[in-house]
Amino acid sequence: MKNKFQNLCILGLAAAVFAGCSANAASEKVTTEDVFKIGVVQYVEHQSLDDIYKGIVDELKANGYEDGINIEIDYQNGQGDQSNLKTISSKFVNDNSDLIIAIATPAAQAVASETSEIPIIGASITDMVSAGLVENPENPGGNITGISDMAPVEEQIDILLQLVPDAKSIGISYCTNEVNSEVQVNKAIEYLKSKGIEPVITTVTNSNDVLQAISSLAGKVDGLYIPVDNTMASAMPTISSVCVENKLPIVTGAAVMVEQGAVATSSFDYYDSGKQAGKMAIRILEGENPANMPVEFTEETKIYVNKTFADSIGIEVPENLIKSAYEVY
Ligand code: TRP
Repeated sequence: MKNKFQNLCILGLAAAVFAGCSANAASEKVTTEDVFKIGVVQYVEHQSLDDIYKGIVDELKANGYEDGINIEIDYQNGQGDQSNLKTISSKFVNDNSDLIIAIATPAAQAVASETSEIPIIGASITDMVSAGLVENPENPGGNITGISDMAPVEEQIDILLQLVPDAKSIGISYCTNEVNSEVQVNKAIEYLKSKGIEPVITTVTNSNDVLQAISSLAGKVDGLYIPVDNTMASAMPTISSVCVENKLPIVTGAAVMVEQGAVATSSFDYYDSGKQAGKMAIRILEGENPANMPVEFTEETKIYVNKTFADSIGIEVPENLIKSAYEVY
């Protein structure tokens, strides 16, 4: 890795010197062997993950790593399917990728099981430990490190309880294939119970089950909490329409989900989280070893409110929440 980087610097200089004479001669100097191969696997298609990918690419570019010039990005989407993820991961390994970036937990788990040598950056992984990706976030020790986006679950539940202060029960729905969601849901259950509120849980195994899972909660609960769950995020139109139909107040884990149709949340900017992952990727390209790179956390949360959506379910958003919002849709 280091040699390749040094080579690239030398070639970069050479290219700059030759640029005046002949652009062709200079570009011929950068052979495919000197181009870093980066495999990027995204678990599924939804806006937050797309934003992360954009953040990664922009950060690489801002630091002089541009696809098709000195890096080659192979970007693949698993479409939420385990066997796709496995195929993509083994392709990255067979291609001798220099670095793999995995966006979302199931994607990171899939690549981790294919290689213990190629450096892996997990981008926006809720909890690297419960996902089995690292044992000690401070000291990863292997080929995997990354960015954790553990959501402020209790703060999000507090927002929901501001909307429904007399709630006796709160519905929670998530996908059982996503360890990331399990961690958040456990926190949510514990917090609700500590407030004497009954959590009512429904689960799905894929996006086809979402309509049924949400509909079965409607009418039974006073509010709905959806964590940072990829399957749910990719089915927001379905979730939102059930909530509108049943006038069910909903708080979600991520801002984009609020924009698409939920009342409010406190959440991260996922484009920024992607840029943070891009910075880690650059450190690896420049010779650092993921074993010695502590897992980083996405820290800054902002309040997002969708007033139009709140109106459509006939709920009044407290003035203080609107005042503290970074964005009101
Ligand atoms: N943290 C999620 C995971 O570990 C991925 C994710 C990031 C996500 N942003 C999101 C999921 C927004 C749903 C909505 O898999």
